[in-house]
Amino acid sequence: MSLKNDLILRAARGEKTERTPVWLMRQAGRILPEYRKVREKAGDFITLVKTPELAAEVTVQPVNILGVDAAIIFSDILVIPEAMGLPYKMIEAKGPYFEKTVKTLKDVEQLRIAAAEDLKYVTDAIRITKKELNGSVPLIGFAGAPWTLFAYMIEGSGSKTFSQAKKMLYTHPALSHALLQKITDSTINYLKAQVAAGADMIQIFDSWAGVLAPEYYNEFSLKYISRICNAITEVPKIVFAKDAFFARKALSTIDCNVIGLDWTMDIAESRTLIGPGKTLQGNTDPCLLYSDLSTIKKETEKMLRAFGPRRHIANLGHGLYPDTEKAKVRFFVDTIKEFRFTAE
Ligand code: CP3
Repeated sequence: MSLKNDLILRAARGEKTERTPVWLMRQAGRILPEYRKVREKAGDFITLVKTPELAAEVTVQPVNILGVDAAIIFSDILVIPEAMGLPYKMIEAKGPYFEKTVKTLKDVEQLRIAAAEDLKYVTDAIRITKKELNGSVPLIGFAGAPWTLFAYMIEGSGSKTFSQAKKMLYTHPALSHALLQKITDSTINYLKAQVAAGADMIQIFDSWAGVLAPEYYNEFSLKYISRICNAITEVPKIVFAKDAFFARKALSTIDCNVIGLDWTMDIAESRTLIGPGKTLQGNTDPCLLYSDLSTIKKETEKMLRAFGPRRHIANLGHGLYPDTEKAKVRFFVDTIKEFRFTAE
């Protein structure tokens, strides 16, 4: 089916667009009272993720309510560790928790490589969402980067330093590579299934990229992201490596269309490091949305000008914070959609 609004796909491919397209990380979530209602009906987060009709409902919400140019399938990056044999819980106000973690090579050997059937609830949600979107905007699929998933699978929860996960890289590199490859194979199966179910584009989230030293990042993260990008050939690919300012040049060499920037990365410097061949995504500090409307408008337009009229997808530099006012999020989106560059 052809899309009525394909701005994001065109921007990803480097084609000219009438205006800068926009979507937001964590656009489906607690900032929307409409989301909280569905979440209550589901009971808990993981049940919501595993109920395709409800996951589809909250995926479509921000398209109608916020007016964004893409939907992103409602799920979590941690569905992959679970499908491999490490189930997780989502603890209210704290985050993810894994009872079992990976400690030995035997633990790695006991993990399965996830297959498409293991994540049927996600691909079912994608199929329902595509029907409900009815061609209005593209649907983004996603997965965690192998390193970020590895970090949770070793650590068992979030962490400021991920020192246990890093310790594994320094003390057991062979085990680490074996686990990263298993996660990579699982992720390729998963993303291929998402694309087959209808995802128009995919994003890889490397949320904990920034804890690694550059050489370690290349060896234990980028290499695996690159293998995933090489395997997914059907749709445009976004790679978002949070806090990995040191990896921008290296990221420009992999087979993706879009590189996500967080708000600490200077826009002009990023363009110089990355070169003209990639679209850039980002990079407003989500805390700007706590500000007043005139500041939001001024800073947002400054961001749009800094990126320029081509090869930019507007977004935040990381996910929306749950206490952000919906009206201000909508204002941010409208500011972007109303902005025009004068004669190119
Ligand atoms: O962006 C979207 O709107 C799509 C949905 C989405 C969620 N998680 C829903 C979610 C996406 C793309 C993710 C990815 C994800 N999950 C990442 C990568 C992006 C990032 O933030 O860096 C990470 C690291 C996770 C793991 C995770 N899931 C954590 C650390 C938490 C707890 C933090 C929090 O905000 O509470 C989650 C929970 C989670 N994932 C929520 C949502 C809407 C909040 C749970 C709830 O609604 O109760």
